[in-house]
Amino acid sequence: MKDTHARPPLIATLLAEHVHLARIMELMAAQLDELANGAASDSHVLYETVSYMVNWADRYHHPREDLIYGRAAELDGQLADDVDSLQRQHDAMAGKAQALQQLIADWRRGGVDSEAVVNAGRAYIDHSRAHMRSEEELVFPRIESVLTAADWRELELDDRLRPASDPVFGPRIDREFRNLRRKLRRGARRRIEESVLAEWTGLEAILESLEVLGSANHSAAQETAAALRTALGDSLRILRETPLTAAPRCAINNTRVAGRWLGAVAGIARDAAEDLSRISRERRRQLNRLNSA
Ligand SMILES: [Fe+2]
Ligand SMILES: [Fe+2]
Repeated sequence: MKDTHARPPLIATLLAEHVHLARIMELMAAQLDELANGAASDSHVLYETVSYMVNWADRYHHPREDLIYGRAAELDGQLADDVDSLQRQHDAMAGKAQALQQLIADWRRGGVDSEAVVNAGRAYIDHSRAHMRSEEELVFPRIESVLTAADWRELELDDRLRPASDPVFGPRIDREFRNLRRKLRRGARRRIEESVLAEWTGLEAILESLEVLGSANHSAAQETAAALRTALGDSLRILRETPLTAAPRCAINNTRVAGRWLGAVAGIARDAAEDLSRISRERRRQLNRLNSA
């Protein structure tokens, strides 16, 4: 019977591998950006990212998908066209990865300029990302709806005949990828540090904003109390001095006092708004500094 709830373990494995591949692509893109900007980039790391695609993605990840695609194509004629195009992309990607690996090796020897590496590398990344997107968004869900639990069991047995361990994200890290691994670890640590710092920057800004609002509130309350005191004092004085015309004179005076009070409170609100926008500007500056550090 077809299991419509739990995700088949092979699909879960492929998706986990995509997460790793996405990290490799991200690192490759960062290295190419450094190269394009003329910054000193680590050519070992760039080489190892492409080498990972050649030695892991093209040798183990894509064949694992091809195994599943082959079964899906047998069961569903419509899916057959899509998986056929993905399988052809696997072949093309393997060729492109090898060519890129060679190009980077030539560049490291000084035979090719960095612009050619940047262009070829970015094109490769775009292609890989688009390929993974179409697998995740279009093809995997349809395969899940077509294959039965029995199909998955058989495929898992076939898959186990070709055991392989990821040389970067697996339990044992291949020495060939040590620079890449170190860079990934450093990147992950930096992301955590940045998010903690960003959190603190946000918290500090909130506390400062609360202080601004609190003190504005206090000033407004003081102004209000002073205005009321003035209005009351004036009214009593007017009543004592001219009891017959006190009512209209008190009203006129109160209007004047209220006008002054409104002006003072508006000034406090204006100052508070300026302070809040300054705090927000400062927070944005701090976040930009963190992002560009
Ligand atoms: Fe694929
Ligand atoms: Fe894939």
